[in-house]
Amino acid sequence: MPIGPAVRGVLGPRLELLAADAYRRLFVDLDSLAESVAEMGPYSSLIEVGCGEGSLLTRLVARLGRDVTALGIDIAADPGRSFVGDRARVTFCQATVAEIAGAGNRFDLVVVSEVLYYWPKDVMLAALRRFEEILAPGGALLAVHWRKETKTYPLQGDEVHELLLRYTRLANTATITESEYRLDLFEDKP
Ligand SMILES: C[S@@+](CC[C@H](N)C(=O)[O-])C[C@H]1O[C@@H](n2cnc3c(N)ncnc32)[C@H](O)[C@@H]1O
Repeated sequence: MPIGPAVRGVLGPRLELLAADAYRRLFVDLDSLAESVAEMGPYSSLIEVGCGEGSLLTRLVARLGRDVTALGIDIAADPGRSFVGDRARVTFCQATVAEIAGAGNRFDLVVVSEVLYYWPKDVMLAALRRFEEILAPGGALLAVHWRKETKTYPLQGDEVHELLLRYTRLANTATITESEYRLDLFEDKP
């Protein structure tokens, strides 16, 4: 059985969130990350691609202010199952970014955290085009990835960010590089 359903079965959804948070805190402080994103705003509509159980969206929605609306998508079943916060402002759905782009949706902020190194380079670059497509004019793409060596992923975290820098049409307006993770903000500038 995959680790997610196994952990959920044993712990239940609330404890699963705590377990996921404890695991994530080993390398990324989600609260600091959400604070950093809030300082980069304001943003009124955001999408997190590959939102998982909703840990990061829990923090982002809490910090981005009352007017923000958010969409979390994931290819895995039951995305956002552990989200804590105002559900009236957040929608979760099992979908790909290509489907969201095809439906004509646009967002002020597109967040991709701990996702892009699971994809081969050509898939990642095709997704980058979709991220750019779903940005509202003047919007921003935020990418965050763990930097330590991974043995089994197609790409390393630093490679992901180098590819984004090289291939995006967006302007790189902020970078935070810690020993464990890297964050880059790319903005749609005239
Ligand atoms: C390590 S988790 C990251 C979860 C969350 N973004 C975070 O930072 O806490 C990676 C997530 O990406 C999702 N994912 C992988 N490929 C995807 C795709 N093509 N479209 C949407 N989600 C995807 C996985 O199902 C998984 O939930």
